[in-house]
Order: sequence, then C-alpha cells, then structure tokens
Amino acid sequence: MCGIVGYIGGEQAAPILLEGLSRLEYRGYDSAGVAVFDGQTGSLAVRKAKGRLQVLSDQLHGGADLDSTAGVGHTRWATHGAPSDVNSHPQVSRSGKIAVVHNGIIENYAELKAFLMNQGVSFTSETDTEVVAQLIEYFYDGDLLQAVGRVLHRIQGAYALGILCADCPDQIIAVRKDSPLILGYGEGCNFIASDVTAILRHTRRVGYMEDGELAVLTREGVQCYNHLMQPIEKEIVTVDWEIDAAEKGGYEHFMFKEIMEQPEALRRCLSPRIREGEAVFEDFSLSKDFLQNMRRIYIVACGSSYHVGMVGKYHLERLTRIPVEVALGSEFRYMDPIVDEHTLVIVISQSGETLDTMAALREARRLGGHILSIVNVVGSSIARESDQVLYTWAGPEIAVATTKAYTTQLALLSLLALWLGKRLGTVPEKDCREMVAAFRELPGKMEEVLSHRDDIQYFASQYFNHDSIFFMGRNLDYALGLEGSLKLKEISYIHSEAYASGELKHGTISLIEDGTLVVALGTYGKLFAKAMSNVVEVKSRGASVLALTTYPHQEEMARTADVVMTIPDIHALLLPILGVVPLQLFAYYVALMRGCDIDKPRNLAKSVTVE
Ligand code: F6R
Repeated sequence: MCGIVGYIGGEQAAPILLEGLSRLEYRGYDSAGVAVFDGQTGSLAVRKAKGRLQVLSDQLHGGADLDSTAGVGHTRWATHGAPSDVNSHPQVSRSGKIAVVHNGIIENYAELKAFLMNQGVSFTSETDTEVVAQLIEYFYDGDLLQAVGRVLHRIQGAYALGILCADCPDQIIAVRKDSPLILGYGEGCNFIASDVTAILRHTRRVGYMEDGELAVLTREGVQCYNHLMQPIEKEIVTVDWEIDAAEKGGYEHFMFKEIMEQPEALRRCLSPRIREGEAVFEDFSLSKDFLQNMRRIYIVACGSSYHVGMVGKYHLERLTRIPVEVALGSEFRYMDPIVDEHTLVIVISQSGETLDTMAALREARRLGGHILSIVNVVGSSIARESDQVLYTWAGPEIAVATTKAYTTQLALLSLLALWLGKRLGTVPEKDCREMVAAFRELPGKMEEVLSHRDDIQYFASQYFNHDSIFFMGRNLDYALGLEGSLKLKEISYIHSEAYASGELKHGTISLIEDGTLVVALGTYGKLFAKAMSNVVEVKSRGASVLALTTYPHQEEMARTADVVMTIPDIHALLLPILGVVPLQLFAYYVALMRGCDIDKPRNLAKSVTVE
C-alpha cells in the first residue's frame, strides 16, 4: 500500500526521499512523487510520475534536480482515482502552497469536496487526498498547526499524512490515524516514514505515532501532540534490524532470499523459547484463572496469516481440547462473533498493520476477549493494541508474497498450542518432550529441504505452462494446500484452487481431465492411505499428479504419482512448516519461468491498510 517518507535536515532532500521510497516499493504502488521546498522561489516544487519509481527518479536525475533540504515523498497505490500523474501524491492546494502525502482513505471526502466546490474551490485530481490539501488551505490564516487541527476535526477515515506548507520551510507536519507512520530521529535531521525500512540507512532511533497524534518536525527536533493538541513526550526506541536484512544480499529476488532465510528465522524465533525440554514464553503468560475458564479460542487473520490459523486450529484443538474458530479479518466484525471474557483471541499479522485484521482486533476487544497477537513488525499497530504480543522475529520481509513470516508464525502458533496443552494438562508429559525435541530438529530439517531446491526447479520447468493447477489434501495437508495454492497464484498468475481431498467428488472432480495438474499433498502420515486413494482417483480421470510426501512414503507414492517431492519426516505438529517450503519454491520457480515480477506481483500490496 502507499508509502510515505519525509526528511528535514542539512542534506539534499530529494535523493534521500527517492532512496527511502525505493525501500517502500515492496509495499506495492502504481505511481510516485515528491514535494520539496524550493529555497530560490520560496515555493513548493512538486514532481510526480505514474509507474515505477525509476521513472520519477530518472526525470529528477536521482533527485539532483531538486535543490532543497526538506520534503516529502510518496508511493501511491490507487484507491480513489486511476493511477495517473495527476492523481499521484503529493496533492497540492489550489495556490500550490500546501502539499500533502497520504496513506489511507478519507471516507467523507465527497461531502467535503462538495462543500469546498461550493466555496469556489476547483479540483484537479480525483483523489480523496486533494480534499485534505484544499481544506488545509481553506482554513489556513498564517497558523499551519491550527489549520491542520481544524481539518482533523472534519475528516473521517484512516490516514497517515505528511504535510508541507510553502510559508513554513523549516517544518513538516505528520499526522496519524489508523494508518502507520513512524518518526525517525537523526543528527540534525528528522524523518517520517510508513515503516522503518525507509529510514534505516539514516537512523535506528524511531518513535511510533499513535492514533490521533500529530508531530511537527524541524531540523532540530520533533514535537508531538495528542488528539487534544497537548504537547506529549514520545518514547524513542532503537531498532535492531540490520540494514542488510532489508536488502537482497546477492539474491535475484527478495522472495528467494527470504525462502532461504527460513531456517535462520526459525532459530531466532524458537531458540529463546525452548529451554530444558520445555516451551518457555518469557514475553507472555496467561493467568491460571483465565486458563481454567477459557471456553473458546478465536484466530483472526487475513491471507497467508489466515492459513496459519487454519493449521493452528487443528493443533490447538488436538492439544487443548478447546473449540477453535478461525475467522477472516474482513469477515469477523460482520459475523456477530461469540466472544467474551473467557475467549482467547489470537490475532496473526506479519505487518501488524492490516486494516481488516486491526478492525477485527478492535471488535474482539470491544466484546471483552483477551487479545494475543502474533506479529513480525515490532511496534506495529496490532502489536501495540493487543493485550499481549508474541513477535516472530523473522526480520524484515520485503517480498509481497510471505514466506519466512508464514513459517515463523506457524512455528510460534504451534509452540503456543503445545504450551497451552501442557498448562491445561491435556498433553501427556512424554508427548510434550517429543514435540519439543521436534522443534529443535526443525531448522536443520528445513535446511535439508532447501538443499533439494534444484529438483523443485526441474519440476517447475515441467509444469510452468499449465494455466490451471489444483491442490488437494486432507486435514493438515488441506491447510497446507491453501497456502501452496495462494503462493502460486499470487506470483505466477496461474489460476489455482485448493480442495479438501474428500470434497473433490462433491463437484470439483468434474474439472479434472486429461493433463490437468493436481498437486497432491500427502505429508500427514496418519492420513497417508486416504491421500493415496485420492491420487488414484484423480489419476484415473487423466490428471498429472505432482505429489508431496515424506521420505518414508516416497516409494509408495511414486508408484502412482507422476512426480514426487519429498521432505524429511517430523512430528505432525511441524509437518506443515517443512511441507510449505517445496510449495514456496515451486511457486517461485514457476513465476520465474513465466517472467513474472516476483517481488511485486500486479495489483498486490505488502501491507493492506485499506478495507
Ligand atoms: C500472501 C500474503 C498475504 C498476507 C495478508 C495478511 O503471500 O502475504 O496474503 O498474508 O495480506 O498480511 P499480514 O500478515 O501482514 O496481516
């Protein structure tokens, strides 16, 4: 989704803004722009271009063309108005005095636009953001802060804003409501950004803006205000992500790099949480009273994080015997969910900023649920609004298609299921020990799976021309299929569906004909015989079968399937974590062979901050 960067300091601003925006490209965008103070003319210079950031950067000769030490930049993901130069941000007021970059949606923009037009204000773009710039100018009488305050009382919706005014060359105003925005504190310079990767090259000292807060940035410092415009102190935290972690480090794509980083990410996520044969959560606990009275668990998430929840449901119900509901973030608040103070609500989000998931969290909290979130981005909105948070510590994930965040989320949720089962006394001690031992083996076994990536590349070369691919599996393998299918379709643009194998004969099998590719998942040993019979079923209708199973079942599967991918056997609790890796690689290689834009698939955004 849209990305914001702002800089005020002693250096040329435009190159810093363009470089910061390039770090935000992964979020997804369709146009880009910058606005800076032009010291010579005393006005704002605004440059925008539809398409890749490189187009804008080439036009500005890498920023060298704009002589200024303060400005804001933006990558836009179109919501109101098609992608075009005119609809790109920054949006400016009619006199050109005010420039605004915006992430989010102004819900009442039509009403405000009508009001301004009645006052004789004319508009040049179709965006909701232009309304903000025009409205600030409408209220501006020499006091920018006051004008912004008046606008904030009138706009509704979600917004992170970066505001420049030609009369105030020594300040940038930042505002946040329901859309992420952070402050960066440098030496003689300060920043705003949608996320920390945009400014990591310049500073590690950041402050997280809360909803309703406003900040005035100058070269010397940052003054924050609460929603009542009272000055507040902001806590400054030091980010410990390495810059390299947000760069490709020699790999062709972020997605591939992140796939390869998974064993390390799992170690980071799990090692501190496994001690002396036990799952240990230093950063989290639940009272005895809550545990004894816990009646239900809800898991709420979107996309791949939702698929983590699907696996989690099987694990949690098996290990705790407590009913678990998995809900899509976008559905939860409209389904009248049964949540009360005896409900544990597990919210899963890599970015911690997904608006639907956030809205679900707020609804669950309103209903009295206890909110535990599993999040990757430290200090993100979901993390901050939860009662408790478990961080996945996967490091920055840049590719739009999630990989290492998915596997660490799943590892953490599985460990949590085990921890809960132990606390509730629903898992025998011996089983607990076996499972903990399996967690220790996980990163090593994943390295083994990754070492066979050339085989997967070869299989991808056999199948990349298919235009429809089915995934099927039962139980854990069904949940795995959902993720495998999503990975494939989002980056390769091949139509794909995932089915619970038993459901095929209730309709979908009519689509299977000669040569249809079915990816048959048969990793779960307990249900292997059933998986085999489904493979026979689709083979006899002419399907080509690419199967995934564990080493012990490889031979048997190979007797029927056309091709078999294998993973080492491991405790069922962790099978989907190993099993997803060949599917990630398959999706990656297929997309590569089809010449797709792997890290930034069309129409998709990394952080989905609109409904
Ligand atoms: C798919 C993918 C998305 C996200 C979804 C939720 O590869 O990345 O489906 O899983 O948009 O995002 P988070 O986890 O950030 O809430």
